[in-house]
Parts: sequence; C-alpha cells; structure tokens
Amino acid sequence: MIKPVVLQCLPSSAAEARRIAVRLGIETDEIAIHTFPDGEIRVAVGPAASVTIIHASLDWPNDKLLALLFASEALRRSGARRLVLVAPYLCYMRQDAAFRPGEAISQRVVGGLLSDAFDRIVTIDAHLHRTTDIREVFPGIDADNLSAMPVIAEALRMTGFDPATVIVGPDSESEAWVSDLAGRLGLPYLAARKTRRGDRSVDIELPDPDAVAGRSVLLVDDLVSSGGTLAACARALAAAGAKTVDAIITHALFPPATMDEFARAGIRSVRSTSSVSHPTNAFALDALLAAALQNELGWAEPKDSNP
Ligand code: R5P
Repeated sequence: MIKPVVLQCLPSSAAEARRIAVRLGIETDEIAIHTFPDGEIRVAVGPAASVTIIHASLDWPNDKLLALLFASEALRRSGARRLVLVAPYLCYMRQDAAFRPGEAISQRVVGGLLSDAFDRIVTIDAHLHRTTDIREVFPGIDADNLSAMPVIAEALRMTGFDPATVIVGPDSESEAWVSDLAGRLGLPYLAARKTRRGDRSVDIELPDPDAVAGRSVLLVDDLVSSGGTLAACARALAAAGAKTVDAIITHALFPPATMDEFARAGIRSVRSTSSVSHPTNAFALDALLAAALQNELGWAEPKDSNP
C-alpha cells in the first residue's frame, strides 16, 4: 500500500529535511547517489508516496539538477502522483536574459526542466529581477516564492537591535528585501548602486553617505557567492563613517574562508538562513517551509473527469 505523503532529500539537505518532516509528522528517506569513476551518477530513491516531496537546496547545482531529474523519473514510475520540489535556494535564476549575444537564458531552461519533472516548486527569496513572478519561471505547475524576511525580522525582534540602525542593500535588486525587512522593523533603509566589473569585482556607490555616518548598519542581500558585493559595500559603508556593519543574507553560497575577507572589509558578523547549510546559519527556515507544505498532507486524489 503506497503511503499518502513522504519527504525525500538529497544527501546535502538531510538535516533540514528531517526537521521539516518532524514538523509535518511524515517520514523521510535519503536519495542515494552513486558516482561512477567516469563521473556519471546512479540515483536510487526511497519508496514513493502518493505525494512525494523532495528537499534539495540547489547550491553547486549541476549534479544536483541531474539527480533530481533521475529521482523524478524513478518516483513517477513507482506510483508518485504528485511531486513537490522544495529548493530553498533555487539555482540559475540570475541569468534571466541574454545579456550578450549568444548567451543562453539559463533561468528559462532550468525552469522548463523542473516544470516537466515536478508538479510544484517551493523556494525562498528567489533571485527574480526581470521575471517578477515565480510562476512565469515554472509554466503550468504550482510555484511558491516564500520570503525569509518575516523569519529574520522575528529573530531580530527577539534578540534586540540598535533602534538607530539603517538597513542597507548593496544594489537596486536588493531593494525588495531591504524595504520589506526595514518596514517590519520600523527602520530606515537605502539601496546602494552597484556596477559589476567581473565575477568577483564590483564598484559600490552609496546614494546618501550621510545617512549611514555614525550609525549601525545591517547589510542585507539575498545571496552571497564570491563575496565581492558584500565586501565592497562594507568598504563603502566604512568610508562613509558607519559605526558598525553586520550582514544578513538568505543564501550563503560562499566558501567559509571568505569570512576573513569580510572581517578585513569591516564586517562584524555575517548571519544566514538555513537555506544552504553553512557555518553562518542563524535563522532556521524549517517552520516556514513546513507551513507552506501543510496543504500537501490533505492533497486529494484527482477525480475522474469522465461523467
Ligand atoms: C545580485 O544581484 C545578487 O543579489 C548578489 O548581490 C550577488 O549575486 C552577490 O554575488 P557576489 O557575492 O559574487 O558578489
């Protein structure tokens, strides 16, 4: 007898997946991935349930994407009627246009692949810019782009913060997050201007340096990859006379060794959500994700449409 709902996960997501499953009162299984000497992979899933949820945060995504497509094939063949992908960090969202002639629009390709393999995608603070609605990325399936900002705001309220803090985003794309968090905490915010020179090199200009002089700054962004943006913004804030700079990000994609560069740039602390397992994790997302998945427990079998 096939179970109604189960949660399976890629090995890298096991800890967070277990916390979500406990909240939902369902079982978890870890998807096994064997890598052959030539780099090909073999994927083995656990027993399918009618609704099978897969948790896989998609940092370092290339192998994980292929593993998900293989897992989807195995689960559908084993009787899964509805497949839900929980990808707290959703990869390839930044390339949402061909910025130079000949470039592929990877957001569109990855959106199409995952739409074919899953019935619903749940993610957090997806990097959407020119595509404003997550449902445009995943045509024909359910898609939810949750925000980590309520979780972060609640945690900051619990621990307390300097009421004279200014929230700063490093670029115009961060404005959605910084304005949301600032509104929740009743703090002022500003978004800097960023010019990207290369993968690891950016220039940051503060629109109003006086607004941060002598103030505590909370530097907020959706993701940190090379760390170049965060470090450059911290240097600009130090030059403008900020009293302290602490950083909060949703997706920590950077190698932990980058923390030394952040410290040299004057960043006092870096905290991230549990979207990607990382030493800076400080804000747990399992309650937010479990709440979003609650409706899967009551998912009804589709009725026969024939009269
Ligand atoms: C870009 O708009 C993003 O929000 C981040 O600011 C950016 O991707 C961070 O990348 P990096 O850490 O490599 O500078």
